[in-house]
Amino acid sequence: MKDRILSHLPPDFPWGESLYYYPVIDSTNTHLKALCKNGSPHGTCVIAGSQTAGRGRLGRQFYSPEGMGVYLSLLLRPFCPAEELMHLTCAAGVAMCRAVEACAGICPQLKWPNDLVYQSKKLGGILTELTFDCHGNVDGVILGVGINCCGTPEDFPPELREIATSLSCCVAKPVSADALAAAMVAALWELEGQLFTQKEALMTQYRSQCITLGKEVSLLREGKTLTAVAVDVDAQGSLQIRLPNGQIQTVSSGEVSVRGLYGYL
Ligand code: BTN
Repeated sequence: MKDRILSHLPPDFPWGESLYYYPVIDSTNTHLKALCKNGSPHGTCVIAGSQTAGRGRLGRQFYSPEGMGVYLSLLLRPFCPAEELMHLTCAAGVAMCRAVEACAGICPQLKWPNDLVYQSKKLGGILTELTFDCHGNVDGVILGVGINCCGTPEDFPPELREIATSLSCCVAKPVSADALAAAMVAALWELEGQLFTQKEALMTQYRSQCITLGKEVSLLREGKTLTAVAVDVDAQGSLQIRLPNGQIQTVSSGEVSVRGLYGYL
């Protein structure tokens, strides 16, 4: 499978050497975190055919069966303070939409902060995790992405059928997982070159694809549910919301769960 993925990339692709493929793994993010701790270089990439413990944000599971998706994690070692990486998940969302478009000819939208959405259903998600050294400096960034590629609606368990979709449910032509994996790696490599130099352009692109903006969102904060309208995403990737009293508040992704319900996005 690794060779099949590499066959879709230029022979001199800079991250080809440090790409690892596993048919089954617990979680590509968890595995890459261990590799990061052991000194693996910038650009190390772990791709799996299935995950037994795929993870999403806020401790959720990410459904990762064999033959249905691309499950990928990339290690970046950017040598910068964590504050300069606040836009990373949004920027990665933009990059993953580019990969999907290059491979399948459709452009997903983005549900703040980290979901790829097509026709109001979740196509994939991004889980960004940072590791720190003993001085509190960023040691590594683990950028994990799962995109549902193959399979029919019936291949999803009943509880996901109404809220999740895959590329093969959205386009007439079958999309190969290895071609999608290669497009994702290539788009992440391109993103790495733009992350700090084209921050504004990436965030402008994110806003234009962000399906949450202008929508009513419900926020879980300190055990209370608030209803508000999403009005903007700032340069750091935080969501700006307008409360019923007109007050604007900033919401960071780790702080609250925004329920822009699937089907009502
Ligand atoms: C989410 O939906 O909240 C994010 C899902 C992220 C899933 C990907 S699949 C590859 C990588 N490994 C994981 O365990 N999670 C991410």
